[in-house]
Amino acid sequence: MKRQHSDVAMIGLGVMGSNLALNMADHRFDVSVWNLDQSRTKAFIAENPGTPGRLTGCRTLKSLVASLERPRRIVMLIKAGAPVDSVNRKLLRLLDDGDVVVDGGNSLWSDTERRQRELASRGVRFIGSGVSGGELGARFGPSLMPGGDRNGWLRIKPVWNAIAARVDRNTGREIGGAAPGQPVRGGVPCTSYIGEGGSGHYVKMVHNGIEYADMQLICEAYLLLTRLLGLKPDAIAKIFASWNEGELDSYLIEIAADLLAQKDPLNTRRFLVDLILDTAGQKGTGKWTGISSLDMGVPAPTITLAVFARFLSALKDERVSASTKLRGPKPSYGGSREAAVAAIRDALYASKICAYAQGFALLAAARRDFRWKLDLRSIARIWRGGCIIRARFLQRIASAYEADRRLPNLMLDRSIRRSLTRAQSGWRTTVRLAATHGVACPAFMSALAYYDGYRSARLPANILQGLRDYFGAHSFERVDRPRGQFFHVDWADPSRPIEKK
Ligand code: 6PG
Repeated sequence: MKRQHSDVAMIGLGVMGSNLALNMADHRFDVSVWNLDQSRTKAFIAENPGTPGRLTGCRTLKSLVASLERPRRIVMLIKAGAPVDSVNRKLLRLLDDGDVVVDGGNSLWSDTERRQRELASRGVRFIGSGVSGGELGARFGPSLMPGGDRNGWLRIKPVWNAIAARVDRNTGREIGGAAPGQPVRGGVPCTSYIGEGGSGHYVKMVHNGIEYADMQLICEAYLLLTRLLGLKPDAIAKIFASWNEGELDSYLIEIAADLLAQKDPLNTRRFLVDLILDTAGQKGTGKWTGISSLDMGVPAPTITLAVFARFLSALKDERVSASTKLRGPKPSYGGSREAAVAAIRDALYASKICAYAQGFALLAAARRDFRWKLDLRSIARIWRGGCIIRARFLQRIASAYEADRRLPNLMLDRSIRRSLTRAQSGWRTTVRLAATHGVACPAFMSALAYYDGYRSARLPANILQGLRDYFGAHSFERVDRPRGQFFHVDWADPSRPIEKK
């Protein structure tokens, strides 16, 4: 007998919402769908006949809610910001105690906390879930980062477990379906409860911060290979593809190789990459990560510089004009090409480690400051498959936190430490080459400075504190007195230090 009610609802039939709804239907969930523009709902139903789970198009939010089994599960994938509040307001008039609403968009985590309180006061359970993997991930297996009401999570868990990407428990390698588009069996799903409040969206935000850094590092490797070594895109594509065979193995390196090899579809016979305008856009998650690092006092320079690099890229007209006025060296590398390629590879890997170390340091600080029970090992595991930053390296991060859950910084893990030591000479060579030849590589440089700063027992902040005390009586601690005891010098008569309470 045909069932009356759907298992789950999807609000928003953009690319992500449509694909996630189809993914659910592939796993035999009956899905009711609603979209603000009705014609899209009709088209979606017409385009997708005969899915394993039934798809039901609804004309109104009221009929969508009425079509669901209770307690209801409603997922929305709509533009972050005001639209989420607007849908929540409408839903609140229609939902009952215990119903669950999941926001799968890239919402700001603090908005998610507020929404959770608003809905909880009316008995509705709200989950903010990171969804990563782009179009294909949503369709065939994303990485899912749900946070918020724990009972709400238990209700949505069977759906999330079914549709998430899956990885081999031991190797961390992503498992594909029996055939392209077939549901994946076995392995472990790339999702688990992240924690309370807005932690799911916070973790997704940091994922995106790392994504920004990862991409900026790839850009810098490309820039050096092309500017310094004069390599053409197809040659760089081959280098990237070979890097993808080793410890740099990752989704972003893989697709960078594809992108570089691509010829212009408009038949100009040129490489497409040479025709793409060099001004980068952004939707805000990287910037939020940078802001959060500043708010919490956690150094995340490589992530933040990746955001600044996008801002700088957007100043196209100014840059074009400045390129004729500001002088610098002309790149002219005369050394061994193989050695330079190897050095750039090392710089890329070591800088990547630093970017992830900064991202995980942010997560550790959020765990402390917001009292979320974040399990960093589990987060690394969730990111092993499905998401944009999926990489072989994530397995090493998971192992590092398995060995020590409270590791102060990823760079301190024994095996990661060894990688940094191994890559170090090539990394320094790369930064030197970039500086000598005037090639802008802010992420490589900032990562190296982060590494060198973090491993410094003594930094020049002594001068800084002295200067602050000189002009502003800000006081300083002394190396030969207990911490917490502050001193000030009367700089008009410096012979007499004054102890300050
Ligand atoms: C993902 C991505 C995705 C993100 C885009 C756009 O994990 O699938 O992070 O959620 O929205 O990458 O980000 P920008 O437009 O800010 O680059």
